[in-house]
Amino acid sequence: MIQGVTGNPTVYLNGEWLALSEAKVSVLDRGFIFGDGIYEVVPAYGKKPFRLDSHLRRLLRSLAAIKIQSPYSEEKWAELFRQTIEKNEGNDQFVYVQVTRGVAKRDHAFPNPPVAPTVFAMSTPFVRPNETLRNEGISVITLPDERWLHCDIKSVALLGNVLARQAAADRGVTESVMFRDGFLTEGSASNVWMVKDGTLHAPLKNHLVLEGVRYGLMQEIAEKLGIPVQIRRIRQAEVSQADELMITSATKEVLAVVRMDSRPVGKAEYEGKPGPIYRKIRAAYDESIAECQNAKA
Ligand code: PDD
Repeated sequence: MIQGVTGNPTVYLNGEWLALSEAKVSVLDRGFIFGDGIYEVVPAYGKKPFRLDSHLRRLLRSLAAIKIQSPYSEEKWAELFRQTIEKNEGNDQFVYVQVTRGVAKRDHAFPNPPVAPTVFAMSTPFVRPNETLRNEGISVITLPDERWLHCDIKSVALLGNVLARQAAADRGVTESVMFRDGFLTEGSASNVWMVKDGTLHAPLKNHLVLEGVRYGLMQEIAEKLGIPVQIRRIRQAEVSQADELMITSATKEVLAVVRMDSRPVGKAEYEGKPGPIYRKIRAAYDESIAECQNAKA
């Protein structure tokens, strides 16, 4: 079977449900040839998708940004995510959906007339961040952001992100935090948050950053907790002097960054441990997961 994959999950490919081992895509698929496609990753807790509406909005935004006409309505996409969860085992899963421009003779320009997009969905068991990660935090390295100028599109062309994550793995840390022209952008597969003097700061949601679904969630949580939020350009020097740092993503949820380039993050009194604002946000994040689990289907 495939390295790292346990069992033979049920996947969706172009209108059919089949075992992963049976799912095949042409070598001329533009996703394979050009990285010409987009994707989404939706976490599910207690078999219920978390923040599905925001993920669907971003999926449709990504398709429009690369000029693929959505093959399905928003309702049909929602149904696809729900069915993928239902057809697979485990209460906590994450659903991966990828749409490419389809299969055609290799030519950089779009196929004319257009061909049917390739639609693929699979579920992976969601191994949530363990207690150690949640309570002790993670280490990161910093890197120059060498990606293209449309990081706002959730493109499957992720070579820059892949190389950044591998650089972190090579150094034995969890994530790379990237900077472009001296300003914070994001992690290789996460958004980055900074706390300074009781305020939560995050980079502008522009073409240099993927607007994570957790951008909205973090802002809601901060509002509930009475923590002021500033979305603005953040200089690298400010990040080095942050009181607290955090990352967010569908799969990492929210985690404190306690070491950056081998140096402790934050105030000396935190002693390289997650700070107080992280702990409040973490608890609120868990509450919103519990609400999702307890919601009626
Ligand atoms: N990645 N920035 C980048 C570059 C990402 O790849 C991700 C998520 C995020 C956070 O987005 P969200 O909060 O919507 O998960 C930010 C997913 C998890 C992945 O590629 O697997």
